This record gives sequence, structure tokens and C-alpha cells, in this order.
Amino acid sequence: MSQIELINISKSYDKQKDVLNSINLSIEEGEFFVLVGPSGSGKSTLLRMIAGLEEISGGFLKINGQTMNHLPPKDRNLSMVFQNYALYPHLTVQENILFGLKGRKIDKKEQQRRLNEAAEMLGIQELLKRKPRELSGGQRQRVALGRTVVSHAPLCLMDEPLSNLDAKLRAHMRVEIRRLQKRLGLTMIYVTHDQVEAMTMGDRIMVLNDGQIQQVGEPITLYNEPVNLFVASFIGSPKINVGNAVFSENGKYLIVENQLHIPVDPSVFCHIPRDRNLKVGIRSEHLMPGISKKENLHYLEAVNIEQLGNETSIAFELGSELWTAKWPGQWKIDLGQKVSVQIMPEFLLFFDADSGNLIKSAELGKSQGAVSV
Ligand SMILES: Nc1ncnc2c1ncn2[C@@H]1O[C@H](COP(=O)(O)OP(=O)(O)OP(=O)(O)O)[C@@H](O)[C@H]1O
Ligand SMILES: [Mg+2]
Repeated sequence: MSQIELINISKSYDKQKDVLNSINLSIEEGEFFVLVGPSGSGKSTLLRMIAGLEEISGGFLKINGQTMNHLPPKDRNLSMVFQNYALYPHLTVQENILFGLKGRKIDKKEQQRRLNEAAEMLGIQELLKRKPRELSGGQRQRVALGRTVVSHAPLCLMDEPLSNLDAKLRAHMRVEIRRLQKRLGLTMIYVTHDQVEAMTMGDRIMVLNDGQIQQVGEPITLYNEPVNLFVASFIGSPKINVGNAVFSENGKYLIVENQLHIPVDPSVFCHIPRDRNLKVGIRSEHLMPGISKKENLHYLEAVNIEQLGNETSIAFELGSELWTAKWPGQWKIDLGQKVSVQIMPEFLLFFDADSGNLIKSAELGKSQGAVSV
């Protein structure tokens, strides 16, 4: 039995416009489920409805087979980290963390053990006696996280719990949260704007846009086979490169953004309709340096170069678009330089320009890197 079921869930704050629309979803016990979407797409609303903090306008919420629509939050056996982590200002860090355990008759020793464990995991051992006003934003956020860590509730809802932490701490906490979730077998619903968190933490990701589910699946599936342009552009950093594409009159070339002429290889292009407006997409790591082969070479003008040390990110102007290439290592390229770039048609994703729906995912690139050891 799946632990959480959302059946035709909808939400309207003003009884006119739905901010969530017919959400159907099952989340399994022990699953780490990541929720992403633009600001205002309904992520926090959905989490708050599951927690019982927001009324459900339509549909059913079931937890372990039981309808929960009208059950008060305290009876749902879950813990939540809020986006605006509210701490009790008059309580110390320690008291804030243990607050939820007080009413649950958990023995003092066990409380202390969980407190120590949480404080160590979050790196806040030194702060336990302080009041929230004496903490930085990132420290407060870790205290809020601490309340969830000690609760051991089987269902855990987290709304951007790491948004205020620096990059190093974020990377550390990512691993810690995942380990805790696995060790305690928690079912986790986790909202994030961070690409790395979305890709690396979740068993599955759901992409929401404007209150509607766009796609639910394993992170790598969403990356490789996005169902539409929205998901393609939303998942992955830097953003996938996209351009308008038409076939030349003689059918021998695919012309992208009126600039690139890509020779049509029948084996790659056989299922691509000729009578539709198309968009093509290519990931930045597949826009490769034109050095190894002679085929599929194009010269593009570099308009921005970012040296990141381990890799170089180069922006090229292509029609009305800017395309980004990400090349391993350090490349010395001047602004305005025409750079030889290899574009293999096997790496192209094809979309219907009008509906935005995927017509064909890339033939290559999926299993690359998926090396079995
Ligand atoms: N209490 C409220 N009353 C009226 N409208 C609300 C309320 N809370 C949220 N909304 C609206 O509902 C929509 C969804 O908001 P929600 O907070 O769920 O978005 P979100 O995906 O969490 O965004 P963010 O990434 O910015 O946190 C938005 O248009 C928002 O303005
Ligand atoms: Mg939110």
C-alpha cells in the first residue's frame, strides 16, 4: 500500500482560480519524493494540505489508506520544516528542538540522545543554549531542521530546508538528510529550488507548473526524457539549449535558428514530422568542442566565457538564443571568437513547438556515464 495518496486534489484560496488542479499521485513508504516548480506553482500549498495546515478544496488525501482530509495536523503523525522556519523566540535552541517531544511522553534520556544526535548532525552543538534572535539565518534554519530530526515521525515534509545555508554546508546537509531518511525509513516530501538537491536526493521528482503536474519520475528520466519543453528547461543546470528548427526545402538540412545547418541523417530523423513547427534541444555537455572529428562542425561566436577552474562555460549567440556549452578543463577563448563546436544530431531532443510536447529524446548521451562497477 502506498503511504500517501492524493486523489484529484485541488485547491482554491478565493473559490475562483485553482492554485492546484487535479493532483493525482501516490508516494510509497520510505520514498524520498522531491517537489520542484517555479515560484507560485503550488508546492508549499500542497505540502501544507498534506500537513493539515491548509484546507483541501477538492479531492481526497489518504495516508496509509485512511482519508485524512479533516484530521487535525497533530493526529497525522508527521513532522514539517516550514519555508519560513518559525522558531519560538522565547525558547532556547535546545527547547525549540525538543518542543514537539515534550507532549509525546518520550523519556528524558531518549530526548537527550536524539538532541545530541541532531545537534551533531546539524553542527549546532555550541548553540543549544542560545535564543533564536542570537542566531544567523542559516543557524535558525538548522534549528528548524533539528525539530524534524528528533521527531522520528514516519512522514516528513520539508519546504526548502537548506535555502539559507552556504554551499559547503548545503552539500554536507544534503548527504546527512538523505542518510537520516534512509536509516529511519522515513517517507520524505521535499521541496527545493536547487537543481543539485533535486537531482541527487530524490528517488523521484515531481515537476509542478501553475498548479498542474508536468511530470513525475526518476531524476535521470526527467533529465533524459522530459515530456515537454517546460520540464526540459526546468531540470538541469545550465538550462538546456533550445532553438527553433525547420527542414530546408530540399529536406537535406535541419536549419536551427536560421543559422545552423545540420545535415539530415535519415536514421536519426526518420520519425520527425516535416509538417510541424519544431524546436530542438541540446544539453550543454553535448555541445562539444570541435576538435576530435571533422563531421558536424559549426562555428559559433563566443559572447561570454566563465572559467570555473574544473570546467569552462561558454555562451554562444545563436539567432535569438544564447546557447551554453560546458567543457571539462580550462579553455582559453576570447570574447567574439568564432569557436568550432561539434553538434551531433544524436544528441538532439525534438519538441513540437506549438504544444511543447516531446517528439523524440536524444539517441545518445543517456547511458554515457552510467558505468557499472
Ligand atoms: N494564504 C493564501 N491566500 C491566497 N493565496 C495564496 C495563499 N498562499 C499562497 N497563495 C497563492 O497560491 C499560489 C501558490 O503558492 P505557494 O506558496 O504554494 O507557491 P510555491 O510553489 O510554494 O512558491 P515558492 O517557490 O515561491 O515558495 C501562489 O499564486 C500564491 O500567491
Ligand atoms: Mg513555497
